[in-house]
Amino acid sequence: MKDFKRYLVTAALPYANGPVHIGHLAGCYLPADIYVRYQRARKQDIKFICGSDEHGVPITIRAMKEGITPQQVVDKYHALIKDSFAAMGISFDIFSRTSNPVHHETSSAFFKKLYDEGLFEEKETEQFYDEEKHTFLADRYITGTCPICSNPNAYGDQCEKCGTSLSPEQLINPKSALSDAVPVKRKTKHWYFPLQNYESFLKKWILEEHTEWKNNVFGQCKSWLDNGLQSRAMTRDSNWGVKVPLPDAEGKVLYVWFDAPIGYISATKELTEQWADYWQQEDTKLVHFIGKDNIVFHCIIFPAMLKAHGGYVLPDNVPANEFLNIEGDKVSTSRNWAVWVNDYINDFPDQQDILRYVLCSNAPETKDNDFTWKDFQDRNNSELVAIFGNFVNRTFVLMHKLCGGKVPPLHEALLDDADKNMLAEFDAARGRVEKNLEEYRFRDALFEVIDLARKGNKYMQDKGPWLIDKELKNNPDSERYANGVGQQLIDNCLHICLQLTANLSILINPFLPFTARKMCGMMKVVEKMLDWENAGKTKLLSVGYTLRAPELLFRKIEDAEVEAQVEKLRAGLVKPVATENKQEEKKETVEVNKREGEKETIVFDDFAKIELRVGTIVQAEKVEKADKLLKLEVDLGFEKRTIVSGIALHFAPDQIIGQQVVVVVNLAPRKMRGIESNGMILMAEENGKLYFVQPGTSIAPGSGVS
Ligand code: 2FM
Ligand code: ZN
Repeated sequence: MKDFKRYLVTAALPYANGPVHIGHLAGCYLPADIYVRYQRARKQDIKFICGSDEHGVPITIRAMKEGITPQQVVDKYHALIKDSFAAMGISFDIFSRTSNPVHHETSSAFFKKLYDEGLFEEKETEQFYDEEKHTFLADRYITGTCPICSNPNAYGDQCEKCGTSLSPEQLINPKSALSDAVPVKRKTKHWYFPLQNYESFLKKWILEEHTEWKNNVFGQCKSWLDNGLQSRAMTRDSNWGVKVPLPDAEGKVLYVWFDAPIGYISATKELTEQWADYWQQEDTKLVHFIGKDNIVFHCIIFPAMLKAHGGYVLPDNVPANEFLNIEGDKVSTSRNWAVWVNDYINDFPDQQDILRYVLCSNAPETKDNDFTWKDFQDRNNSELVAIFGNFVNRTFVLMHKLCGGKVPPLHEALLDDADKNMLAEFDAARGRVEKNLEEYRFRDALFEVIDLARKGNKYMQDKGPWLIDKELKNNPDSERYANGVGQQLIDNCLHICLQLTANLSILINPFLPFTARKMCGMMKVVEKMLDWENAGKTKLLSVGYTLRAPELLFRKIEDAEVEAQVEKLRAGLVKPVATENKQEEKKETVEVNKREGEKETIVFDDFAKIELRVGTIVQAEKVEKADKLLKLEVDLGFEKRTIVSGIALHFAPDQIIGQQVVVVVNLAPRKMRGIESNGMILMAEENGKLYFVQPGTSIAPGSGVS
């Protein structure tokens, strides 16, 4: 293993166009914070960098919609996001912003160096332009009617109704989503970064030298690299962003994904004069914490940029998480299907650690996971309260009751195997937590801490010091507890439980920092005790030291509280009607190497909701004044259905009578040209030509398809 002298940890710069939700926390900010707190406790030289990403189309769109300036948008959300992170104990060394002058200078100089070295390709292309709003339009910001299914709200890159991937030219009646104006084509010049020139470097660096990266990250990188990289435009036509530092570049800015990662460098510059040590010394361990949608930018594009520039370290690891769904559904900011961090803080004041606990123990480390309020309640009540909190509380209560409120002595001669095993567990658990944290397995690390508390409960239960006390009181002449042995056994148990409590506070500190500090208060120790070098030690609290009264570490979450949250979530749900909201959510992404029409993975239950049946077309006719539509009568065995299908350009009505087709029968009815369509026919497409999806042989109408 490489010997690193310092750490530089970054967490993805959130877009300053909305508040952060718990999916963001679980995706990267919480694991990053746990990692950093752990390394700080190990006294490592470390800087934790973040800030808001204040450029890009989503911000200009929001400004236009709200009738305010982009600067006003980012000012509002930068403050809100910063406060939310601070309240949740996300301990950045700096939370900067990409609208700061130092960032404009840094990213501009970065671009200029690559330009001066001839590393960009200059290309002129035609792009759609909105003459009313005087702006070029990304494909996503052009809407129109889908040529395949007649959905009137299709986007210039995809129809979300039938899934076909489109180009703006294919849309019927295209219009700008910003003004409704008909877009026109205009020539424009941009600077492209030839990623393909860095392919062999990236292949060696990732596929040979970083086989230890998480499977989800490594797999995504491999697939990009196997498919071959292409040049990508690194500039955009816009007035919001970092101006392209060239004389003939009026109205052009750096592409947001070019400038944003450089934001990590600018923020470090803002933080410390020693910034270059962190970025340019080979013995820095650079770790980028991100969500899975950012993998390509951090593992392929930014490293290629850094390599092209020269002089910078590359990330040692990029431990990206998958997504966190909410109550079984994907997070959607436009539908308001999210748990907003600022709302949580208002609704559960001083309960940050519960959320940190739940989000870490259920983190989407290897696959998408689901957050439910019921699970939030269960994990709190049956793990935090019933295991960890219970152990600490019982230890303190019994120490006050049976040992006079002081750390009792340890009577070595009376130690049995259970005592010795318990003491040995401190260091063993430390080792396991440490290994998991070093390898970015935060869930497993947290599990080990809770498991240690669980072992503490069992140890205390088996020892039962209260039973010894009872027997001493009931039978002062008890032989087996004669000569002070009874009290000494009680002392031993509580001494060990108290030392274990001190260990638990150190081990839990990276995960639940508020709780660890409360525990320090109860133990009357300074925070310095939380230094990692103390973990595993068995003599942290001095014998005879008076401790405070117990304070409940966690409180139970009641049914009514979680029911109210579920209700709030459902009540706040916005129906996805407004196309501009959807666009707002769509991130600036580089569509490199995606299969055409590639969709996200769904779970089997999603697929199982679709009822597919074989039907026979028994009638077909053209729909008046609609070139593309046929009105079909389909026999499904149990009934005949009217289905309107956008296939008129491909089939003559009389050709298809008698054909068997596969029908989605439980699709909600939809009116097309005044005719109610009750289902959808499945079609296969090759080079623009459509074919029916059919059973291999003629079978009874109504037969199921699965
Ligand atoms: O996905 C996002 O929210 C981006 N704003 C992340 C940027 S990360 C880095 F490159 F700045
Ligand atoms: Zn469509």
